Amino acid sequence: MYVLGIETSCDETSVAVVEDGEHILANVVASQADLHARYGGVVPEVASRRHVERLLPVLHEAMKQAAKSWHDIQLIAVTNRPGLLGALLVGVSAAKAFAMALQRPIVAVHHLEGHIYSAFLADPSLRTHLPLLALVVSGGHTQLLLVERYGHYALLGATRDDAAGEAFDKGARLLGLPYPGGPNLANLAETGNPTAISFPRGMLAEGLDFSFSGLKTALRAFIQRRSVKVNSLPSPEVADIAASYQEAIVDVLVEKLRRAALQTGIRCACVVGGVAANKRLQIRMQKMAHEESIHLVLPPPSLCTDNAAMIAAAGYWRYQACGPDPLSFDTLATDSLATIPPHN
Ligand code: KG4
Ligand code: ZN
Repeated sequence: MYVLGIETSCDETSVAVVEDGEHILANVVASQADLHARYGGVVPEVASRRHVERLLPVLHEAMKQAAKSWHDIQLIAVTNRPGLLGALLVGVSAAKAFAMALQRPIVAVHHLEGHIYSAFLADPSLRTHLPLLALVVSGGHTQLLLVERYGHYALLGATRDDAAGEAFDKGARLLGLPYPGGPNLANLAETGNPTAISFPRGMLAEGLDFSFSGLKTALRAFIQRRSVKVNSLPSPEVADIAASYQEAIVDVLVEKLRRAALQTGIRCACVVGGVAANKRLQIRMQKMAHEESIHLVLPPPSLCTDNAAMIAAAGYWRYQACGPDPLSFDTLATDSLATIPPHN
């Protein structure tokens, strides 16, 4: 089954064609990062307008790369929640129009469910390893979930304040680094010493929830106390601060996943979402997985950050489990993944 996936929940316009939830034929992503850089963050109205401009060219490029015709598409999958409402509406309206014009079924996909299914694209054998622990670390969410099968997600832990990606982005801003903060902080951290400064590890010894806001406050206090010069030309001192700050986030993520594995006895896990593209996190996660004999899936960076292939994959499995959604399905700014009903 060839599935057309559409993702417009934030600042990436993406269209993909995926076969049977496993094989990516095309996964075209048009990032708006340059557009939002001058504002230091995503401006929702600007993002929606850019999606309107880019969606059809991205769609044509995806169909060209997949070398498929419209008639080959058997299912349409689109992100309908959670995200920026205006941005989501662009993708959802287009997807409904295609579904009507092509007379094909449509499924509405939860964005975080898409992130989880990026791991199934990276390692199709995961289907035979369930249950699975999924650590979802993106710009808006940090959640630890137990995935039993499609649609059955138990929330084991979540952030009480900032998401991991938000911690990277806010830290980057405090260090004077340009948007997008996370990848820029990670690049700078590569030249720094991760043990130079001991930043707090929020809730490290307690349960499976996360807290990152104290870390950000500690960074702000450190910069003020030491009168650190932050500007667009970072010094070796700022590189050490970036590496130490990144290490504090990574430590917490690694130890929470280790604890979840030890508590549940589940030895299969994935780390997904934009922050999973972080190289230091990948190295530390692989080391921990080796120590604890965990089958760990880390998708390639192109599948960690927002993309439509993961939406097409999740949509395929949703369709297998629940059938199509009615064309009247809604678009939601917020929604929890742990209680997905069979139909919206
Ligand atoms: O999943 P995603 O693309 O969008 C959301 O659903 O939010 O995640 C974006 C987040 C941003 O906070 C971004 O700074 C962070 O992922 N991110 C990174 C890296 N690449 C993206 N954080 C740390 N290191 C990276 N290499
Ligand atoms: Zn995302």
